[in-house]
Amino acid sequence: MLSRSFTPFPILTTERLTLRQLVSNDEQEIFILRSDREINKYLDRQISKTIDDARDFINKINENINKNDSLYWAITLGDKNLLVGTICLFNFSDEDGKCEIGYELLTDFQGQGIMKEAAEKVVDYAFNTIKVQKIEAIFHRDNQRSINLLEQLLFRNSNEYDKTNPDLICYNLKNPFDNLK
Ligand SMILES: CC(C)(COP(=O)(O)OP(=O)(O)OC[C@H]1O[C@@H](n2cnc3c(N)ncnc32)[C@H](O)[C@@H]1OP(=O)(O)O)[C@@H](O)C(=O)NCCC(=O)NCCS
Repeated sequence: MLSRSFTPFPILTTERLTLRQLVSNDEQEIFILRSDREINKYLDRQISKTIDDARDFINKINENINKNDSLYWAITLGDKNLLVGTICLFNFSDEDGKCEIGYELLTDFQGQGIMKEAAEKVVDYAFNTIKVQKIEAIFHRDNQRSINLLEQLLFRNSNEYDKTNPDLICYNLKNPFDNLK
């Protein structure tokens, strides 16, 4: 059984970053993340057309956190509150002891190692606090920046394919602490 209790919200910090809960003031940055053509190039999801869409999205995300269904962090730099990207854990399976990870950065903040730093912390939280045995990342096979990131984090291609969409690949990382028990 996974240890899923997301209230109070788990704020995480790293050398350069603070990962905090989304707030309504993030709507402009969430709108850009969910409408920018380049950021959404490989993502198969509902695009935000208006600020209202972004606002609704933030509310839905926070409802899911209140229900302990998923976790979604705003990535911010140091003590600046401005959102530069997001990272989430979702699709938890108590039965299989696993979850999925997703992430995105505003284009101005790519190429600085920000996501690697954020994802290392989130992976550590998933393994050591939620106690998942496996984290999966499912994404478009041409998304090379995502592959680079995941390989640096020691995720490996599972070679499992989604029959409904052969363009998707699945990388996973197993909990290294499970082997030590
Ligand atoms: C996937 C995504 C988050 C990766 O972003 P990224 O900026 O490449 O990843 P990082 O933040 O870890 O940065 C790594 C880059 O920063 C560079 N870098 C600079 N300073 C660094 C530092 N201090 N530490 C580590 N890397 C550093 C690395 O060399 C690397 O650059 P390179 O790819 O040109 O070699 C980004 O491409 C994105 O938002 N894509 C759109 C959304 C998406 O497709 N998400 C995946 C769906 S699950």
